[in-house]
Amino acid sequence: MYKDFAFLYDQLMADIDYKEWYLYIKNILARFNKEPKSILEMACGTGNLSYYFAKDGYDLTCFDLSSDMLSIAYNKLRKFKNITILNQNMIDFKLDRKYDGILSICDSINYIVNKDDLLQVFKNVKSHLNLDGIFIFDINSHYKLKEIIGTNTFVEDREDLLYIWQNYFDEKNNMGEFYLTFFVKEDNGQYRRFDEEHLEKAYRIDEIVELLKLADFSEIHCFHEFTFEKPFETSERVSFVALP
Ligand SMILES: C[S@@+](CC[C@H](N)C(=O)[O-])C[C@H]1O[C@@H](n2cnc3c(N)ncnc32)[C@H](O)[C@@H]1O
Repeated sequence: MYKDFAFLYDQLMADIDYKEWYLYIKNILARFNKEPKSILEMACGTGNLSYYFAKDGYDLTCFDLSSDMLSIAYNKLRKFKNITILNQNMIDFKLDRKYDGILSICDSINYIVNKDDLLQVFKNVKSHLNLDGIFIFDINSHYKLKEIIGTNTFVEDREDLLYIWQNYFDEKNNMGEFYLTFFVKEDNGQYRRFDEEHLEKAYRIDEIVELLKLADFSEIHCFHEFTFEKPFETSERVSFVALP
């Protein structure tokens, strides 16, 4: 769960180009002949993608489970009048309207760690989508969670931040377990330690497709990372497009 990490999230994600991600999503929309006016972004985190949709004038609703992530998003997005920010859970969100597009990026879907819950997410998305709507999301691939992040430890030593990311891949349950430890330099020169644990489920593409079908999506496409190519065995991120 994102708590204190929320306040370092943007600093640690600085190498992710959210504008490029936004442009990729715009390319997907164009490829599927969609011109959504209303967008729902699930698990928006600190609002880095939301920012571009808000800036371009979309009627945007975004939500996240973590109120700490949302507090950062709120500061980034409050100047826009065309956006609603909510504290909701992907598994059981209920909004009394439908959207032209529903999105969730940056492996937020892997945070839904059991299949029944993921089916519930997909059913919920379906019921909030207009008939000619589009659902776009991505996952960290099974390959990335098992072989790249795997059972490895990463350390990052910055001037005012030491960050240790110890990972364990549970092969029986196909679960990436991440144990994060941060030492953050405070104004008084001392370092404050805090720890967080995150879980990401390693889904296979077939499992996701099967759940989307069970949730009654009629057309499903998946792509290698930020392309329109088929995913490879070694794709680290897989983007999905599902049509109602
Ligand atoms: C890796 S972050 C991605 C955040 C954001 N989409 C981005 O691109 O930076 C995963 C996000 O999923 C959120 N999350 C995890 N489980 C959730 C749930 N059940 N409902 C809503 N948000 C959830 C977390 O709070 C976190 O903000």
